[in-house]
Amino acid sequence: MTCRRSGTSGRSTPDCLADIHLWRPYCQMKTTIAPFEVVAAEGCRLILADGRTLIDGIASWWTACHGHRHPHIVAAIKEQADRLPHVMLGGIVHPQAARLTRRLAERLPGDLNHVFLSDSGSVAVEVAMKIAIQYWLNLGQPQRTRFLSFQDAYHGDTAGAMSLCDPHDSQHAHFRGLLIEQFSLPIPRTSAEFAAFRQWFDARGDSVAAVIIEPLVQAAGGFRFHSPNQLQQIADAARRAGCLFIADEIATGFGRTGTMFACEQADVVPDIMCLGKGLSGGAISLAATVATTRIFAAFWSDDSSEALMHGTTYMGNPLACAAANASLDLFDSEPRLEQVARIESRLRDALGGLVGKAHVVDVRVRGAGAAVQVDRLLSKDRWMPFFVERGVWLRPTRDVFYLAPPLVITDDELGQLTAAIHAAVDAL
Ligand SMILES: Cc1ncc(COP(=O)(O)O)c(C=O)c1O
Repeated sequence: MTCRRSGTSGRSTPDCLADIHLWRPYCQMKTTIAPFEVVAAEGCRLILADGRTLIDGIASWWTACHGHRHPHIVAAIKEQADRLPHVMLGGIVHPQAARLTRRLAERLPGDLNHVFLSDSGSVAVEVAMKIAIQYWLNLGQPQRTRFLSFQDAYHGDTAGAMSLCDPHDSQHAHFRGLLIEQFSLPIPRTSAEFAAFRQWFDARGDSVAAVIIEPLVQAAGGFRFHSPNQLQQIADAARRAGCLFIADEIATGFGRTGTMFACEQADVVPDIMCLGKGLSGGAISLAATVATTRIFAAFWSDDSSEALMHGTTYMGNPLACAAANASLDLFDSEPRLEQVARIESRLRDALGGLVGKAHVVDVRVRGAGAAVQVDRLLSKDRWMPFFVERGVWLRPTRDVFYLAPPLVITDDELGQLTAAIHAAVDAL
């Protein structure tokens, strides 16, 4: 490899870099293994360029709840593409957005009635932050500008969302000091921890705009669980301190934890909820930030400066809204939550045997998701090929092998996924 010196950085710049055009996510481009080329997908399977098929054990980052390329979703996108692929939402509405927001309001708990559409989960979190801060500004409490989030939290990769991730133990730790500083606490578990948690608000609660949590399952931060009771107590403490409560259901929404939304298991109606991933059934990017009427009312004013000034170019894209409406049709017409219950019981049976095995720290199952936590960090570059050789697509995070398959996965396919995890534990 020939190298020339770069002018200012002092690092050498190999000439061959000019030919690398796709800058891939979450990897050291120099040392990582070559990516696996996927050319098609069908149901729960990804089809590689060399003809092999892989069972998608993580539903392509938790999106493909009905499996890949579901004919009802594909047909809805095609029909919409023939009619209106895109139109701006400023000053305009289109039928798919109007219908989707109405249907979401009908399905969401409580009076989460006001839906702000965006194009990715991270942006939905940014919008939630902006709504929370401006809610307090509009109400004359400008000192409430900070957020309380939790250890092991992951809320996205844009600057505001990064500030809510675990500040020490996350992939964003490099940026500490540059991001807005927020509060971060462990999720309380015992009654003594809850007492301390409530006291924490006595000292700092006035500056907190909102508490934000991934309800029941902290996903990308290591698949950590807490109980509905913990969630309820956290929401209560936030409310008692006068703060808003935001549920980031981007990973947990749309059936993943056993109910349509995880908050329902704790009987909690958040002030603001973030949705994404499964919202559009795994075909196209769409996200939403949903507020209760109390929050929405704080922006309803004769004063234009009290309006929410946000809007991204592709927000509420008609193709994405058509996909999301089709996905909701499938939740209405097919027994997804029963399928989740079946997956949960199969996962418990299949992974229970790993408890107590060498290197296994914990085995957790909730809804259509499971984690096997081991006693070491897991290199994606080592384990992705290991799983591909066994005909499955799994990508560990931190110290966990985890599963979040399409909700339509068959028992046989699930068996292949859990067998591969058993093989991985044996190979540690
Ligand atoms: C809980 C949670 N919030 C936010 C995000 C960010 O969503 P996106 O990747 O669509 O920006 C994710 C993505 O994994 C997530 O799991």
